[in-house]
Amino acid sequence: MSASPLSDRHLILGVTGSIAAYKAALLVRRFKTAGAEVQVLMTSAAERFVPALTLGTLSEREVLTDIFPENEDGSWTQHVTLGEWADAFVVAPATAQTIAKLAHGFCDSMLTATALSARAPVLVCPAMDREMYRHAATQRNLERLRDNGYKVMPAAHGELASGLEGQGRMPAPKDIAARVGALIETSADDDAPSPQLSGPLAGAHVLVTAGPTREPIDPVRMLTNPSTGTMGYALAREAARRGASVTLVSGPTALSPPEAVDVVRVDTAREMNDAVQARREDADYVFMAAAVADYTPAHPSDSKHKKTEEDAPLTVQLRRTPDILRTLGAHKQPGQVLVGFALETDAPRRHARRKLEQKNLDWIVVNNPAEDGAGFGPTNRVTLLRRDGPPESLPLLPKAEVAEALLDRVLAAAPHRSQ
Ligand code: CTP
Repeated sequence: MSASPLSDRHLILGVTGSIAAYKAALLVRRFKTAGAEVQVLMTSAAERFVPALTLGTLSEREVLTDIFPENEDGSWTQHVTLGEWADAFVVAPATAQTIAKLAHGFCDSMLTATALSARAPVLVCPAMDREMYRHAATQRNLERLRDNGYKVMPAAHGELASGLEGQGRMPAPKDIAARVGALIETSADDDAPSPQLSGPLAGAHVLVTAGPTREPIDPVRMLTNPSTGTMGYALAREAARRGASVTLVSGPTALSPPEAVDVVRVDTAREMNDAVQARREDADYVFMAAAVADYTPAHPSDSKHKKTEEDAPLTVQLRRTPDILRTLGAHKQPGQVLVGFALETDAPRRHARRKLEQKNLDWIVVNNPAEDGAGFGPTNRVTLLRRDGPPESLPLLPKAEVAEALLDRVLAAAPHRSQ
């Protein structure tokens, strides 16, 4: 596996006065373990929930709160220096109060002043009670943050400190860390000169998955499938040609990455899930063309299995992998278009329509691998099923042409909003 995108990065963690502030300690640990340097900034309200000493010890740096330090030593411009130092600024947990201040550009603490000075991406992770989160003022402030270029993670559902159930929990530290990694990777790419994008998908983010996954049994053996990645790579190439900013999350394949496409390489279904979920919020269109393993060995061995002398069968216990597409469907953003793929040998349309509904998809592309030319080769014969509208069967086509036809249909039904 490649090094963490957080390795050697400079992260600022802004902690505000929510009961979830104790989870900031877990976040600092996670960032440090990934190899990042972490500077914690706390509001004074946060210090009532978690001691600065805890976060300072874990981060190995003095926690800063006040914009004007007690002993004036000329260091009052530290917010500017820190703003330049940071590769990413994460506010977690972010209270309604701090969100309101950030939305309106207040700078009355080290945290808010540094956020205003930051050149790096800023990620806001709200945590508050259900009604406060739902309140029109908070929602408007979050919208304003997005308009100002901040990234906002939606609060998670669950039991809240008040005893109520609902949306308002701070997102899980592992999800926050994955999102920060994805933001850093994307902003590093933004620094590289990129060709001027034009076409019907200019301004759109397209997320494509491709290829098989590999599920380890032991260090030298794995479960996988014959997917070559051709369909997903063709889709990524075609979406980039039409002007989209494309991320291709690819399992192991022998294909060269398409030009102007950001490729994230993964091996297992779990890694693919992490890479996709970390990017789902920014995606306008998602094409889940990967042949993701549905099962993975429950207890992969660290050392190579030796065969036994007897003729006894070997049993490998399997467990389910996360259903990536189902999770995407459950968290579908307004206006986001989700496209799934299905290989079906029996009653293809009926089974595929059931998947479309169960996974909350807009389209599903179904093919029967038992038919000539369909399946894992260079061509395919597919039927496109959509949520509303009649099915359409395409003739046997090279996969590049299937990609073109699919993008034509999907864009005709849901043109990108910048058009
Ligand atoms: N998929 C996914 N995560 C998984 C498995 C599949 O996101 N763990 C996606 C595939 O990329 C594809 C679609 O879901 O877009 C296929 O649906 P699925 O129900 O998994 O299809 P099969 O594995 O073919 O179905 P079944 O096991 O029902 O025969």
